[in-house]
Amino acid sequence: MSIGVVILAAGQGTRMKSAQPKVLHEIAGKPLLGHVIDCARALSAEEIVVVYGHGGEQVRAAFTEQPDLRWVEQAEQLGTGHAVQQAMPALTRAEQVLVLYGDVPLILPETLKQLIDTAGTGFGLLSVTLDDPGGYGRVVRDEAGRVQCIVEQKDADPEQLAIREINTGIMFMPRHDLQRWLGGLSNDNAQGEYYLTDVLAMAVADGLDIQVCQPASAIEAEGVNNRLQLASLECAYQHRLAEALMLDGVTLRDPARIDVRGELTHGIDVEIDFNVLLEGRVVLGDRVRIGANCVLRNVTVADDVEILENCVLEDSHIGPGSEVGPFARLRPGAQLVGKARVGNFVEIKKSVIGLGSKVNHLSYIGDSEVGTGVNIGAGTITCNYDGANKHKTEIADRAFIGSNTSLVAPVKVGPGATIGAGSVISKDAPGEKLTLTRSKQVSLNWQRPIKKK
Ligand code: UD1
Ligand code: CA
Repeated sequence: MSIGVVILAAGQGTRMKSAQPKVLHEIAGKPLLGHVIDCARALSAEEIVVVYGHGGEQVRAAFTEQPDLRWVEQAEQLGTGHAVQQAMPALTRAEQVLVLYGDVPLILPETLKQLIDTAGTGFGLLSVTLDDPGGYGRVVRDEAGRVQCIVEQKDADPEQLAIREINTGIMFMPRHDLQRWLGGLSNDNAQGEYYLTDVLAMAVADGLDIQVCQPASAIEAEGVNNRLQLASLECAYQHRLAEALMLDGVTLRDPARIDVRGELTHGIDVEIDFNVLLEGRVVLGDRVRIGANCVLRNVTVADDVEILENCVLEDSHIGPGSEVGPFARLRPGAQLVGKARVGNFVEIKKSVIGLGSKVNHLSYIGDSEVGTGVNIGAGTITCNYDGANKHKTEIADRAFIGSNTSLVAPVKVGPGATIGAGSVISKDAPGEKLTLTRSKQVSLNWQRPIKKK
């Protein structure tokens, strides 16, 4: 069965009080609408139509990398029925149409698959039973329990208002029938809108049985109208991710204090302490341990790596058996080949640190190639920038750089070279030799000044 998905996203989202269209606000670093589109993709929808209104161009621009999406403008928001009507010409092949909302981001493909399977080529409705159904359209059933119609809150009588089963807005219908039903909608109701919900009564009048499904959790059907709801759905989403991670074998010291914004892959026996943010594409190998308060953004971490507390790592690769932190910063292009040791207050940018090399304290290494078994002493700085251009520092295998050395690039340190502490190295230092630029130490007789009375 071929499925077309219509995503309604034309609402203004006034209550967000934002210059940005509502559906571009993010949950887990992804626009609300992106979540819904991804869900439609997980259903192998053949056609996906997004109905946009307010801030349309901005919304479209956010999804240019998905050229197969179809965009339909609803210039005036005359109701959900009117919105779907605008989308219909953009659907050409689908036998069945699934209507989703662009501001309901936590809906799960499993739930929709169940709805689709239950409805088949008929009419499917996703409903939820709430303790407080206020504001929603109510699902009205007859004595036999068959769904008859949906009545909006503002059109409902007291008896209907007491109904706790509500319409989530998510419906699944045969395309040709839907087309016909939409043609029969009127806006003669309390809100003067064309209600999509009215097609349900038309389907019933046509003799269709309405198949109803409910999601495992009501949160799946919750929409975002203000920033409070945005935060509460973010929280629910993170909770869901954390649960999935734990069930997949990851130890989370506090599942309420991890945030994943992007794609995380992991090996076995990974342990993550509290307050960790994983953003973009993060790959964690087997037995990786991440200490408290770390941020990893687009980072690949190989097996048996330990990242200690308070590290910020970005666009970097950490080879197997390395230890990083606490308080280390890896900037874009940092590559630790393996068994490296990067300690506190060390910043590494666009540099390769060879196997088993150590940069343990208070250093800046930029635009550098560091060989294997190198020891870089505390306070060593690569002076990679002359104010106009960046230059490279090459440190060969087994070199030992004494503490507080400035390496003025471009410069090379040969294999096995030793650099004396406090040196300013602006010319290449040969291998296996001690190079130093220290001035001679002197001791003089001297009287300390005495404080005047
Ligand atoms: C709608 C349903 C209601 C249901 C509720 C669930 C109708 C008539 N009512 O009510 O039964 O309980 O959703 O949240 O369908 N939109 C457009 N164009 C429009 C109007 C809306 O694209 O002209 C989009 C909105 O951006 C939003 C979605 O449709 O994503 C729902 O609109 P909203 O105004 O929230 O619907 P409700 O009136 O709350
Ligand atoms: Ca609503």
